Amino acid sequence: MDINDKKKLAAEAAIDYIQIGDVVGVGTGSTANYFIDALADIKGKIDGAVASSEASARLLQSHGIRVLDLNATGQLPVYIDGADEATQQRSLIKGGGGALTREKIVANASRKFVCIADDSKLVASLGKFPLPVEVIPMARSSVARELVQLGGVPELREGFTTDNGNIILDVHNLEILQPAKMESDISVMAGVVTVGIFAHRPADVLLLGGDSGLTTI
Ligand code: 5RP
Repeated sequence: MDINDKKKLAAEAAIDYIQIGDVVGVGTGSTANYFIDALADIKGKIDGAVASSEASARLLQSHGIRVLDLNATGQLPVYIDGADEATQQRSLIKGGGGALTREKIVANASRKFVCIADDSKLVASLGKFPLPVEVIPMARSSVARELVQLGGVPELREGFTTDNGNIILDVHNLEILQPAKMESDISVMAGVVTVGIFAHRPADVLLLGGDSGLTTI
């Protein structure tokens, strides 16, 4: 099975977590795109979707799925999104696609967070994937210096601006043994909008597609 088939397997399995009449939180990335394709098949059964990025909003709309403003929906029953890395404890690194801030907002506003990925994303500890940090542009250098003090090697994501008008620093070389602590330590840096560690609000369920089928954690 190639990697796209594994992503698709996880994405299609996430449909089982949706109930009739739900407003569904929808993530960003190639796995989330497979989920949006699957959601289109049952669009008559849901009330609409809240998107975690402009790109996902466009794809949802192209399928005729109503996109709603989170401020108008209240708490969502379920959020479905991919990840760059995931542990058995369901802590995640997200933000490879740069949508981490809206992803964290929608995840936090949802009762259940179902994370979908191919099984190569499952790791013993987070940090091999460079950690995305969304930063207010004027704080680029000061935040970078603080990240170096934590042992990281921050690199500006060249030519990239987030949906919120900010920059991304991708932090290499961090071994994240205490994800919740690292999430807090980076979140408090002045100028950091969002760090791509999802540990305070981890996934509730991990659906991993692999050669031997679907694994649920
Ligand atoms: C986007 C994300 C994605 O969920 C993450 O990058 C995984 O992407 P893909 O499904 O393409 O592997 O966090 O900001």
